[in-house]
Amino acid sequence: MASIPQPAPTPGDMDWFVQSRFGMFIHWGTYALAARHEWVKNREEIPDEVYRKYFDHFDPDLSDPAAWARAAREAGMKYFVITTKHHEGFCLWDSDYTDYKAPNTPCGKDLLRPLVEAFRAEGLRVGFYYSLIDWHHPDFPIDGIHSRRNHPDALELNKSRDVRKYAEYMRNQVRELLTKFGNIDIMWFDFSYPANEYRGMRGKGRDDWQSEALLAMVRELQPGIIVNNRLDLPAERSDIHTPEQVQPTGWVEVDGKPVFWETCQTFSGSWGYYRDEYTWKSPEQLIRMLVNSVSCGGNLLMNVGPTGRGTFDARALAALGVYRDWMRLHSRAICGCTQSEFRAPPDCRLTQNGDRLYCHVFAWPFRHLQLPELADKVEYAQLLHDASELQILPPKEGAVSGALTLDLPVRQPDAVVPVIELFLK
Ligand code: GLC
Repeated sequence: MASIPQPAPTPGDMDWFVQSRFGMFIHWGTYALAARHEWVKNREEIPDEVYRKYFDHFDPDLSDPAAWARAAREAGMKYFVITTKHHEGFCLWDSDYTDYKAPNTPCGKDLLRPLVEAFRAEGLRVGFYYSLIDWHHPDFPIDGIHSRRNHPDALELNKSRDVRKYAEYMRNQVRELLTKFGNIDIMWFDFSYPANEYRGMRGKGRDDWQSEALLAMVRELQPGIIVNNRLDLPAERSDIHTPEQVQPTGWVEVDGKPVFWETCQTFSGSWGYYRDEYTWKSPEQLIRMLVNSVSCGGNLLMNVGPTGRGTFDARALAALGVYRDWMRLHSRAICGCTQSEFRAPPDCRLTQNGDRLYCHVFAWPFRHLQLPELADKVEYAQLLHDASELQILPPKEGAVSGALTLDLPVRQPDAVVPVIELFLK
C-alpha cells in the first residue's frame, strides 16, 4: 500500500474540480471555416486582409447551445472551458474593446452568453480560455510564432506596436469576462514562450503580459476561481497544471511536489474543427485516457472543435457517444475518485473513492483476476455495469501472496473498458 499524494492547497476552490474529473474543452472561432487547424493563420502566414474572409463569412446558423450542453452532460462531463478568444484574436462575446467579435460577423450576436447559460442550465461549471497570444491586435509585437514573422519589415513594424497597451487590452477584456457573465469557475490562459527567439524577435512571458497584475485582478474579481499555469509565473501561483496532449503515467509533480492537474486532449489532434484530419482516436483510447488520468489523480479536459455551422460533426458526436455510453454505467468509478492506495494488477488501472475501489480492466484475463495486497480486505465484489457478483475464490495455485482472487466470466463483458467494483472492509 502506498500513500496518496497530497498537493499543497492553492488559492482556488479545488474541491469541486477534483470531484468532477471530466470536462469539455471547446475551441471555436473563425478558423472553423478554414477547417484546417486553429493555427492556420500562423502556419500559412496569412495576412490580416486575407484572413478577414473567415470573419466576413462566419455564420453559425445551426448553433444550438442547449444541444452542446446536453451532449457534454450526457458524456459525464461536469465543467466546460471555452475559447472566448483564441490566438487569431477573434472574440466570441460582445467586447467593448474590439470590433473583431462575433456580433460584427454575419451571425450578428454574442455567442458566448447563450453557451454559458446553456451549460449552467445543464449543471456544468464554467471555464473561460483566453489566449494571451493575439495575431490580430495592432499592439501585439510580431514574434517567432506570429503569422507575420517572415514579413521583411517585421522589426520595423514592431516599432509602432506597444505591448504595454496590449497588456492593458487583455486586462480590460478579462475584466469584462469576469464581471459580465456571473460566477466563473476557471480562467484558462494560453500561453507563454519567453525562451522563443526568432530573427531578433523575442518570445513573450510574464513581463509582456504583466502577469502579476493580470492574476491579481482575476483573483480579486472572482475569489475561488481556478487559474491554470500558463502565465509564466512560479508554479505555486497557479491552481492547476495542464499537460497538453500527453498522458501522464503517475501523479504530476512540479519541482518534486505533487500538484493539481488536468490533461487536455483532442479527439483527432487539432483543437479547432479540421475537416480532413483522419487521426481520430478509437473508443478504447478515449475511455483509457479518462481512466488513466483519474488513476493518476488528475482530470481530463476533452476537446470538441465545432464546425462553422455551429454543430458538433458526426465524428465528434460519435466520440462523445462513446463517453456517454460508458459513463452512464461507470461514472462512479470516475467522479469523486482519485489514485488508489493499492497496486493495480497487470493490464489494469485502479481508481478509488474512500472504501470503494474500482479496477478498470484494459485486457480481459482468462477466468481469474488477482489483485495484489487485497486478500482479506474486500467484503464484496461486482461488475459495475450490471451489478453482477464476482465471487471471491481461495488463492489459486501459483497465486501471488497477499493477493485477492476473483472469479471472472470467460468472455469480456460488453463494455469498452469493464470495471470491477470492490467494497473494502
Ligand atoms: C496550445 C495551442 C492551442 C490550444 C492549446 C490547448 O497551446 O496553441 O491551439 O488552444 O494548446 O491547450
